[in-house]
Amino acid sequence: MFTFGFSDDGTESDCETEKHNFELPEKTTPSWKECEEIPIGPNLLHSELFDEQSDYMLKIEFEDTFVIKHVSPEIVAEIICKTQNADDTIVKAEQQHSDLVPAVYEGGLKIWQCTYDILNHLYQKEINFKGQKVLDLGCGAGILGLYAYKQGAKVCFQDYNPEVLKHVTIPNVLLNNREDTDTPKDCRFFSGDWQSFIEVTAEEFDSDDKLFDCILTSETIYNCENYVKLNQVFKSRLKKSGIIYLGAKTCYFGIGGNMRCFEDMIKADDIFKIEKVWENTEGVNREIVTLKFK
Ligand SMILES: C[S@@+](CC[C@H](N)C(=O)[O-])C[C@H]1O[C@@H](n2cnc3c(N)ncnc32)[C@H](O)[C@@H]1O
Repeated sequence: MFTFGFSDDGTESDCETEKHNFELPEKTTPSWKECEEIPIGPNLLHSELFDEQSDYMLKIEFEDTFVIKHVSPEIVAEIICKTQNADDTIVKAEQQHSDLVPAVYEGGLKIWQCTYDILNHLYQKEINFKGQKVLDLGCGAGILGLYAYKQGAKVCFQDYNPEVLKHVTIPNVLLNNREDTDTPKDCRFFSGDWQSFIEVTAEEFDSDDKLFDCILTSETIYNCENYVKLNQVFKSRLKKSGIIYLGAKTCYFGIGGNMRCFEDMIKADDIFKIEKVWENTEGVNREIVTLKFK
């Protein structure tokens, strides 16, 4: 087991599986942000970052094996609200106490429960990422990618909001830097919508050996509108021999997304074999599924 501190962000678990249309929207909603690669640059926490005693720094400890350090999402949110412009996406979302504002702020600032579920699963199953190429898709704080990075993987962190990457994910990578240089070369960061991510990175992922051995993705299926794009990232960025670990609540009450609906789309598409490898039925129902090419 590993240890950490978090508050339960769960919602009710019962919901009905609605019928959904799995067609790509005619044209992606114009307001979805374009993909950009975010360089490692100055971040809001730079001076405080490496102070072990600081309240900014939290740790997830894996018995005596290793530790993932990360900044406190709550404190980062407070700093963003104090220092950034009132028009800033995250400032607005925080002021409205919103975890999600579709196509504006997609919730990456806090660490969601299924991140801990996947982490626990990977640790229990002794899954090792040494030498692998890993994509942490919808990474938020990037804890799953960091788990792979600490073991020697090259990791691509993708989050919708550039602010999350700049002020949370990149500081977290710097806290866990295993390389000799100040700017870790084995990590890259991409913001923006999944569909744009596919288009913008198409040239560099043009052969199987350049694709990812593993895609880790936690709490990314709450919005059915995004399922086709998500599946397209999976199909276009996973190696033929690769594996996806997807953790999610069984149902996102009031938002519409749910695991059965996602599973139906994958089965109808008939490209991946989807298998439930873990579930929690006490309290908020949550699951981990794996996807592999058939
Ligand atoms: C609920 S957060 C989960 C964050 C993190 N995986 C965790 O478990 O703590 C959902 C994440 O999915 C990503 N996301 C959702 N919709 C997206 C889209 N259409 N394009 C790109 N990223 C998206 C956002 O970046 C956001 O960080």
